[in-house]
Amino acid sequence: MGIYLKGLQIAYSGIAVTLQITISAVLIGVALGLIVALGKMSSLKPVRVVFSVYVELLRGTPLVVQALIIYLGFPALLQSYGIAFRWDDAVLASILVCGINSSAYVAEIIRSGLQAVDKGQMEAARSLGMNHVQAMRFIIVPQAFRIILPALGNEFISLLKETAVLSIIAVVEVTRKSMLWASQSFEFWPAYLGTAVVYLSITIPLSRLVAYMERRMAQSDRS
Ligand code: ARG
Repeated sequence: MGIYLKGLQIAYSGIAVTLQITISAVLIGVALGLIVALGKMSSLKPVRVVFSVYVELLRGTPLVVQALIIYLGFPALLQSYGIAFRWDDAVLASILVCGINSSAYVAEIIRSGLQAVDKGQMEAARSLGMNHVQAMRFIIVPQAFRIILPALGNEFISLLKETAVLSIIAVVEVTRKSMLWASQSFEFWPAYLGTAVVYLSITIPLSRLVAYMERRMAQSDRS
């Protein structure tokens, strides 16, 4: 029994790093994602194309590959041009990688949330004399919010799990902690069971919170 507790304890010791990366990345993701979503809905074609390509590239390549490009590839590229650069903090590089990756997913969440609001809502608002900005601000965005908010909760959960891949670029988060301990104690089963339990201890309460938000938002839709 003690060995299982040990496995849990080891995995748990990486939770601060995992949460630090996830929270920072989601904040960056939301800020950038908002810009990208607006860019993708721009009335100017070249702007739309640029932001669409951005989203395609980020969603079309694995997060691990993006992490390798930023953490190892990018410094090597700069070095080949005579610029000395290396990440002295893998956590910082990870926050950047996850933040940029998340922005593509968040942009799609925001865009689909806005587009899910019935077109008649905009037409009705405009016919009441509101201009486009007012209609967005008072009619469209509040309704889209109900779809966007729970989806952002899900994005947080996804990203939290995805941070496990950062263990390959020397970030000592939950998964890496377990790997290190397992490789020297040979307690693979308690080690990785502990890893799973630590992730679940966050994802289960969070997904219940998201489900609750969804119910609440659906309720206010009906009234
Ligand atoms: N596992 C997929 C990948 O490696 C999904 C990444 C999900 N990222 C996100 N921000 N939700 O590309």
